[in-house]
Amino acid sequence: MRLLVTGGSGYLGAAILKRAPATCELAATYLAHSIAQGNAAAFRVDVRDADAVNHLFDEFRPAVVMHAAAQMTGDQMLAVNGDGSRNIARAATRVGARLIHLSSDVIFDGEHAPYDESAPPNPISPYGESKARAERVVLDELPRAVIVRTSLIYGFDPLDPRTRQTLNGEMPRLFTDEYRCPIFVDDLADALLELAQHEFVGVLNLAGAQRLSRYEFGIKMANAFHAAPRFTGALSASYPGRRPRDCTLDISLAQKTLRTRLRGVDEVLQDLPGF
Ligand SMILES: NC(=O)c1ccc[n+]([C@@H]2O[C@H](COP(=O)([O-])OP(=O)(O)OC[C@H]3O[C@@H](n4cnc5c(N)ncnc54)[C@H](OP(=O)(O)O)[C@@H]3O)[C@@H](O)[C@H]2O)c1
Repeated sequence: MRLLVTGGSGYLGAAILKRAPATCELAATYLAHSIAQGNAAAFRVDVRDADAVNHLFDEFRPAVVMHAAAQMTGDQMLAVNGDGSRNIARAATRVGARLIHLSSDVIFDGEHAPYDESAPPNPISPYGESKARAERVVLDELPRAVIVRTSLIYGFDPLDPRTRQTLNGEMPRLFTDEYRCPIFVDDLADALLELAQHEFVGVLNLAGAQRLSRYEFGIKMANAFHAAPRFTGALSASYPGRRPRDCTLDISLAQKTLRTRLRGVDEVLQDLPGF
């Protein structure tokens, strides 16, 4: 399988490249950071640049594309996540590639959890709006795309940036009333790789099986590292902007569709050697 991973220099992209079977012929894109995995042909491509995207697709001719490139902050979120995703979907359509697009649980307002795949997006943050727009443009261009909605991505090798900041004391307050379904990056990467060869099309929730507040999640990670928590619990109302409160995703469709198990945090920590 010829697999193209956009955002190969990012946290999820790197895990997909690392866990891809040796039978995959891999290409990956980066923008500002290099790609650590040496098993992929690396292309520096800005997804906002339609010509560059088309050139890449013509050169590599992927059978499957995992579109993980995105920006979570800044004034380019709409351009990168919205227009960039349209460029990727158009190019995938042109070369007949299967597209797996990475979306997020923050496309929801957080007031109507749990969300299954039929739940209508209603973002309340600029990042959520950009990811909701990305879903719309991808499905407009390529109705047979797969839209994967996922939650907080964490892992240990390497440590994900959010957990690193939490353990370092760079996130001094974690919300006790904001709920997510954190997903272990290896489980997510394996599920995506299974999906690559699956006939499923449409929207699919891929999140961890355990709903946790951000504070509970932080405590579990601190305990796993035998570290004293360097944060306190806080209510999300103390945050100056709007944040979705409960983005719990219903993963029953994924559990019926895929062999890969989407474990909860407790199960992942129990299974990890040395923890
Ligand atoms: N992390 C989470 O907890 C989480 C939760 C829900 C959904 N998601 C979604 O999952 C996907 C992967 O997330 P992640 O945590 O792996 O993100 P990440 O670590 O921040 O990586 C983002 C990637 O996007 C690339 N990128 C940014 N702007 C670009 C542009 N204009 N053109 C081309 N590439 C660009 C970055 O390249 P450089 O670094 O080389 O610049 C990097 O490879 C994203 O779609 C995200 O929205 C993530």
